[in-house]
Order: sequence, then structure tokens, then C-alpha cells
Amino acid sequence: MSGTFTKAMARNIFYGGTVFFFLLFLALTFDTMRVLPKTDNRGELTPGAIAGKHIWETRNCLGCHSLLGEGAYFAPELGNVYERRGPLFIKAWMQAMPTNAPGRRQMPQFHLTDQELDDLVEFFRYTSGINTQNWPPNIEG
Ligand code: HEC
Repeated sequence: MSGTFTKAMARNIFYGGTVFFFLLFLALTFDTMRVLPKTDNRGELTPGAIAGKHIWETRNCLGCHSLLGEGAYFAPELGNVYERRGPLFIKAWMQAMPTNAPGRRQMPQFHLTDQELDDLVEFFRYTSGINTQNWPPNIEG
């Protein structure tokens, strides 16, 4: 090695790198588009789940919770709460808020009707069915 770094070498690294990473980008995009339809469970998006999603969005649950990683980190992740706690727990939980337990973070009372609670549970059933490729890594996540 002469130890000199020529303009031609710099150009080759630039063009070679550009082509390599562009091809890598195309390959990963292709892979994502191939895998994505298989992770979707759109078929199960029932009218109840749609109504539940509306409650989720209009009550700003995302202001404290995350859903599949998106949202705030004040309160537990809820994408898998249906698997973690089940429908009865979720409904009872919503009705029991706030706990006023000293030293614990508090969640407001939303005064939802029984129908609205069922819709919310249906929405969580839907989100827990989305194939997230094992995220979050544990059931309490
Ligand atoms: C002001 C912040 C805040 C908002 C807004 C909020 N939560 Fe919570 N939520 C919490 C906190 C904090 C906890 C955990 C409390 C504890 O463990 O004592 C919690 C816990 C929960 C749990 C139990 C989770 C588990 O793993 O046991 C459910 C279900 C839940 N929230 C649903 C909702 C829904 C649905 C909404 C919107 C309608 C909502 N939360 C809005 C703060 C909030």
C-alpha cells in the first residue's frame, strides 16, 4: 500500500457505497412489503373494535399509555392487555378507577357505558391479535 488516497478511490467508494446501500434499501423494502400483509388481521376489525378505537382516540388514552409502542410511557403498554388480563379484568378496571392507592400512578374515571366498555375490550382483542413479531418481548410489557 502506498498510503495515498486518490480521488479515484474516493469516487469508487462513493459510487460503490451508493449502489450497495440503494440495493440494500430496495431489498429490505421488498421484504417488508412481502411480510406486512401476513401480519395484518384487518379481517377481524369488527364494528365493535372500530367503536372501541374511537373511544381510545377520543379519551386520549395515548396521553399516558402506549399501544404497540406508540404513545406515552406513563402507564403500561396496552396492545397486549387483552392477553395479559382478559375482558372481565379490563372492564372492572375501567370502572374501578381511580384507585387512590397511595404512591401509585393514577388513572382517571372515564364514565363509560357497558356498551362502550365492551367496544373497548373488542378493540383490545383486535390489537392483541396483530402479529407484532413478538413485540413487546414479555406479556407484562
Ligand atoms: C392520566 C393517565 C392515564 C390515562 C389518560 C389513561 N390511563 Fe390507563 N392507566 C394509567 C395508569 C397510571 C395505570 C396503571 C395504574 C396501576 O398500576 O395502579 C393504568 C392502567 C390501565 C389498565 C390496566 C393495565 C394492566 O396491565 O393491568 C388498562 C386496561 C387501562 N389503563 C386502560 C386505559 C384506557 C382504555 C384509557 C383511555 C380510555 C386509559 N387507560 C387512560 C393511566 C392512565
